Amino acid sequence: MEPKSKISLKIDGSEVTADEGMTILEAAQQAGIHIPTLCHHPAVPPAGACRICVVEIKSGHRPGLVPACSYPAEDGLAIETHSERVLNSRRMTLSLMLLRAPKAELIQKMAEEYGEAGREAYIRARFTFDIAWPLVYTFFLVTTISWIYSRTFPPESWWRRANLAPILAMVFDLLENLSTSLVMYRFPERTPVVDSLATVFTSLKWFFVTGSFLLLIGGILVGLRRWYKRRRAAEGNLIS
Ligand code: FES
Repeated sequence: MEPKSKISLKIDGSEVTADEGMTILEAAQQAGIHIPTLCHHPAVPPAGACRICVVEIKSGHRPGLVPACSYPAEDGLAIETHSERVLNSRRMTLSLMLLRAPKAELIQKMAEEYGEAGREAYIRARFTFDIAWPLVYTFFLVTTISWIYSRTFPPESWWRRANLAPILAMVFDLLENLSTSLVMYRFPERTPVVDSLATVFTSLKWFFVTGSFLLLIGGILVGLRRWYKRRRAAEGNLIS
């Protein structure tokens, strides 16, 4: 059998040599660099289903997030395994998984898969970017919903309180971050009640996030309908 040609790439700033045809995950594992995986098994072809293994390509003609278990390692690639974008993508994936399969064991499994560096980076990201992001989307939703509903419904209407939905979404988002971070921080010790609560916070967060956007769209439609009716009535008055 012909020896495989070698390629070299950079993972987290370290030069790594790999065989041509290897995936990024295989190249990283060979170099002792940990990338978390869930659906990957070396004995079966990569499914690329869970996207927990995403890494960020920082160079070349296709920079961006790719699943390490199925993306081929290429000569000259520069890859980050714990960048801000990577951690936020994994966090979003974990959050959606918790929604579909709300089991506390999943968070424990993730904490194990992340490795120590991954757990530390996860907690750091939760208390930096993930404080700012809920504030930004809450500000946007509260402002727009308040503005639209104040022009659409009378002051005594219950609909005027629709702007509470994004605030609740933010509260549950922050509680989700706090509880998952606590599980990561205490790993390998278990955090029984908090890991179960994290799955509840995740469901409630998505309920209120989705509800907020539905309220926003509904408010816009109702507002437009009322504006159109008023316009038609004004035109009718002018003609008569
Ligand atoms: S491990 Fe699931 S997509 Fe890579």
